[in-house]
Amino acid sequence: MTATTTTLSEPLADLDDLTPLAETTRSPDPARVYERLRARWGNVAPVLLTPGVRAWLVLGHRELATVLRTDGLYSRDSRNWGLVADGTVDPGSGIGAILAPRDSVYYVDAARHRHLRRLIDDSFDGFDEHRLAVTVRQWCETTLDAVVARGEADLVGDYAWAIPLLAMSTMFGLSPEEAQAMLGHARGIFRGEGVEAAEALKAQKSLIVDLVARRREQPSNDMTSAILRHRSEPTDEDVQSAVSTMLVLGSEFEVAWITQSLRMRLTDARFDGRSGGRLSASDTLEAVLGSIPPASNTAPRFALADTVLGGRKIWAGDAVVPGILGASAESRAASDDIWLEPGNLSYLTWGAGPHACPVRRPARVIAQTAVDVALRRLAGVTLTVPPDSLHATGTLWSSMPWQLPVRFEAP
Ligand code: HEM
Repeated sequence: MTATTTTLSEPLADLDDLTPLAETTRSPDPARVYERLRARWGNVAPVLLTPGVRAWLVLGHRELATVLRTDGLYSRDSRNWGLVADGTVDPGSGIGAILAPRDSVYYVDAARHRHLRRLIDDSFDGFDEHRLAVTVRQWCETTLDAVVARGEADLVGDYAWAIPLLAMSTMFGLSPEEAQAMLGHARGIFRGEGVEAAEALKAQKSLIVDLVARRREQPSNDMTSAILRHRSEPTDEDVQSAVSTMLVLGSEFEVAWITQSLRMRLTDARFDGRSGGRLSASDTLEAVLGSIPPASNTAPRFALADTVLGGRKIWAGDAVVPGILGASAESRAASDDIWLEPGNLSYLTWGAGPHACPVRRPARVIAQTAVDVALRRLAGVTLTVPPDSLHATGTLWSSMPWQLPVRFEAP
């Protein structure tokens, strides 16, 4: 007897009562949101990216692997998005602008992707992790000197938000003053609206354009020079694109990882010494990966043809969001997948397939150093608000508290 399976084929536009994707990053208990979605819809659930903008959220491990690894069917380029083509999404504003097509490794497919990706992969070959750790440590110490002198701080805005961008700016070759300026512009983009954000974005771009021009003229011992030296002889635009994508994409996930680690340290009894010893920075980082990975969801793919995923018909032009946390939760329940040996669960943290994170080891060095220095310098720090008031508020892609307000004992 042949087993038959039914394919559910309602188009996204016909489905009602959809959950906003932001519920998965803002909920204090994301696992419950995923369970609810899976129970109602299965491993591929319809969600709202923003009001009126529908997409599929992938909640199954196998389905996630299919979407991430099959870039010939699931494109990263939003020119293939049906909702842009039919005018539902304006590519110039809101979610349309966030996902707007651009010439960057994360937003292109096929040959252009492979070219830009090779630049990054090859340039990080033989990367000096020790030197990066020294740079990160210096930024952590300087930043905490200022914070501790004040007696109180917000460990997200004052620390977790600052360190990755400062450290990566130095890694790419910006001077300490330029790195501070880069951070200032990033804050402007994040907080500002309209003209202010546009000005900050322009200023950030011009720092990168100047840096690439300077290093083209006079190479140095930094990552921008390493990318410029690549044997494929990249254009200035290729190098600017690689540097700015890494700064932006890397920062968001690093901030979430460092923040969630510090939150755990401040709110979880296992970290306060009374339960038989403190866990190290690296234990803390692993605990975060196992419960709330820095990239909860990643940016949508756009189906290039009608297909079937997890028993649902996906229509050409539909947006499909890889749900990393949702699929990790599902894989804990399944047991017949070779990837699910102990220790493999958090591999999803870095994505999979052609767009998987190219810089896992440097990424870990930044987060681990930042958490390590904070744990050492901030012994005796206390949260000034009740832990359960620290609700996770996030973007569509990552989840973390916006603030960790703390007070220090007098030094
Ligand atoms: C907390 C640390 C980090 C985590 C958890 C993380 C995770 C990820 C994930 C899940 C993806 C794949 C996204 C997708 O397929 O949609 C990705 C891609 C990427 N990450 Fe990371 N990342 C981290 C840090 C960094 C850092 C520090 C950098 C840069 C220095 C970086 C650069 C990139 C780039 C360029 C891509 C796109 C690669 C491509 O499209 O081929 N990441 N990262």
